[in-house]
Amino acid sequence: MIQIIFKPELHKFATSSDFVKAFGLESQDLILTNEYIFQPYFGQMGLKSQVIYQERYGLGEPTDVMVDAILHDARKTGCKRVIAIGGGTIIDIAKVLAVAEQETVDDLYAQGTNLTKKRGLVIIPTTCGTGSEVTNISIINRTRLGTKMGMVSPAMFADQAILIPELLEKLPFGVFATSSIDALVHAVESALSPKATSYTKLFSYKAVEMILKGYQIIAAEGQGARIKLLDDFLAASNYAGLAFGTAGCGPVHAMSYPLGGQYHVAHGESNYAIFSGVLKNYRELKSGGELARINSSMAALLGCEQEEVYGALEGLLDTILPRKALREYGVKKEDLPEFTRSVMEKQQRLMANSFVPLDYNRVLKIYQELYD
Ligand SMILES: [Fe+2]
Repeated sequence: MIQIIFKPELHKFATSSDFVKAFGLESQDLILTNEYIFQPYFGQMGLKSQVIYQERYGLGEPTDVMVDAILHDARKTGCKRVIAIGGGTIIDIAKVLAVAEQETVDDLYAQGTNLTKKRGLVIIPTTCGTGSEVTNISIINRTRLGTKMGMVSPAMFADQAILIPELLEKLPFGVFATSSIDALVHAVESALSPKATSYTKLFSYKAVEMILKGYQIIAAEGQGARIKLLDDFLAASNYAGLAFGTAGCGPVHAMSYPLGGQYHVAHGESNYAIFSGVLKNYRELKSGGELARINSSMAALLGCEQEEVYGALEGLLDTILPRKALREYGVKKEDLPEFTRSVMEKQQRLMANSFVPLDYNRVLKIYQELYD
């Protein structure tokens, strides 16, 4: 059994210019980024690298249509290395660029995990959520199938992952909130996965602790307090990435995908909409084991009894990002059986990592409980 995968080399730099000095960017490098992230930090450096701004191909999270258009333009650059500087969308697309030549997104999904690396890949996250810099999975909204799906292959690991806390300073509070809640969900889901090991749990539990303590400081001191915590949040997100890169995410992610895919709810927010519903149902089905351990750990951090842990957790998270009921996103009651079918049919990769097996009726029950 795999204990933990440490694949990309992990680097950290205080500033973006320290990174550029160390990595010597050249004309055969293709930087995939967003203009509002790239310009303030790299715009004045006179880099010879080619640059693609993702937002010129569409807004929001990656779709098959958007990625195919970027692949088309990237092919023309003849680049030998892709450098991703951005949030989850940029990172997910860059991983596809690293394994594609003439193929479309549908072609790549059809090849399963048998992809080969075609270009070098360097990933620099600019949110504190995805942990995606150290994983080999890309999530793309397959618009023709009406849901998000993971593309996974050993070839999609970055060669180097780079942490530069400075790049998070301009992150709006809303993005900080959704991305860090995503990291918390990664940490909790990976801890509860049957694939968790003592090694992955070191990272999961440490990430939970750092994120909850950080939220407590923000709840007490205000949103501006996050700036002094960015280093911690970036590390916590990376720890959670290392944990779920081996142990996997689970039903919270699986059940959030139809919501994100059809109603365009940001990934971290759609996870938060599902998170406590799944945890409460786990507790109804099986109260001992790792669930008891993580509940006790979170209760200690939150200063409450174990029985009250989910209420206390929601109370704290609501100060960071108020949770909405599914109907507030426009979801209709009649969508719920379709959401459930989609999860049971298309998200088995994630559902296999459930703390306890969840069947159709249980998944539907969770959606119904989260509806109002
Ligand atoms: Fe996630």
